[in-house]
Amino acid sequence: MAWTTEQRYKRYENWTTDEINQIKENIEKSPWRTSYHVEPQTGLLNDPNGFSYFNGKWIVFYQNFPFGATHGLKCWVQLESDDLVHFTETGVRVLPDTKLDSHGAYSGSAMQFNDKLFLFYTGNVRDENWVRHPYQIGALLNKEGKVEKIDKVLIEQPKEATDHFRDPQIFNYKGQIYAIVGGQNLDKKGFIKLYKAVENDYINWEEVGDLDFENDNTAYMMECPNLVFIDETPILLYCPQGLSKEVAPYDNIFPNMYKIGQSFDTAKTAIVDPSPLQNLDYGFDCYATQAFNAPDGRVLAVSWLGLPDIAYPSDRFDHQGIFSLVKELTLKKGKLYQYPVQAIQNLRKENKVFTNQAKTKNSYELELEFASDSQTEIVLFADQKQKGFRIRFDIKNGQVTIDRSEVGEQYALEFGTVRRCMIENQTTTASIFIDKSVFEIFINKGEKVFSGRIFPHNDQNGICITEGNPTGTYYELDYGRKVN
Ligand code: FRU
Repeated sequence: MAWTTEQRYKRYENWTTDEINQIKENIEKSPWRTSYHVEPQTGLLNDPNGFSYFNGKWIVFYQNFPFGATHGLKCWVQLESDDLVHFTETGVRVLPDTKLDSHGAYSGSAMQFNDKLFLFYTGNVRDENWVRHPYQIGALLNKEGKVEKIDKVLIEQPKEATDHFRDPQIFNYKGQIYAIVGGQNLDKKGFIKLYKAVENDYINWEEVGDLDFENDNTAYMMECPNLVFIDETPILLYCPQGLSKEVAPYDNIFPNMYKIGQSFDTAKTAIVDPSPLQNLDYGFDCYATQAFNAPDGRVLAVSWLGLPDIAYPSDRFDHQGIFSLVKELTLKKGKLYQYPVQAIQNLRKENKVFTNQAKTKNSYELELEFASDSQTEIVLFADQKQKGFRIRFDIKNGQVTIDRSEVGEQYALEFGTVRRCMIENQTTTASIFIDKSVFEIFINKGEKVFSGRIFPHNDQNGICITEGNPTGTYYELDYGRKVN
């Protein structure tokens, strides 16, 4: 179905119950709904927003267009969790229903003030000439789940930014509250602006300046900038749209990248001595990762496993997009690691020695180990003819390659069907999570990560070893009842 602008921006109250029921019925027919990942109840899910800990629960929201698999009028839908693994959807919390967010409650972040959770987000507004006005605005969520919007623009579009100015992230650095906002300058180059909360409240913001992170100035827009600290070390995550592949190679339409700094110098508005830009994820679909410094000391992250401007096979069943597992970010010897939180192990039901299997439920975890001189190939989502999702661990030559050209319905073909990353030529492990239509592969406990979607045919559910003798364990995973 081709969506018109009118359909995409039709007011929520104008969708009829019949139309909504039809969407729900259509989703029921989808063969690709997952068993232990967060997905939208209906329509499209994109960025994670407002990831936080509040009122004794982990909270995260997803950007949602509820009426189909397209980017339309967005709202925030809330999820709560006790363990960062089981999430319960508790309702639509930020609707695009005021003059400051009439065309979408766009992405943002959250921080607790007194007994309320402050939601800092972008109100996307189009005027009668369809000119965009991005407003950085806020709302307060109370412990009963009620949202009260703040009827005031908290940060105005700066003179030196185009209408692409959005995705505020609020964070605390040494007791001072700051926010960064992603944007595009008048030369059509991406940049990140730093603000400071006057008197540490959320109402009055003062510009500090453009964040210096040795921007290569090749991207045209920085979406979803996100600054976290592992101990004192700043990690700046962002999505530089249009980034030159000479700066950092990537294959997806848009990358999700990061830099590790030596320190954060607020007087100089700088991430001091940043590393070269690095790809956060080597797979096919990972974007808009949102991380935060959790009160228990961990740095937690969740990604949208989906990309802007890409059509997915699930679109015809009126759903698109999924969250990654919640990952903990750590630094080891100066390198960033991303690995699912420990509680994910509670999903393990039974385990077996890793070997060929004619048929699985496509809901499992693999823990594999490869010797330093080994060359191994396995096929997941495999059919009788050993066609499926091919993963080659060529440790001897220091390379891992994934190939989805022979599995399920193909999409985004112009961006290729193969991804690879380099690894060191030494004993290597892989933790692989498979869930119906998604894979997440963590090499060496998260030193390198591949995430992405796969839309298998009905008979693609086996495991097959086509080269080498990998050793490891297969765990069937069981989430219990899924609520969202
Ligand atoms: C990133 C993004 C954000 C924006 C949101 C709108 O995927 O484009 O920049 O706030 O999605 O849904």
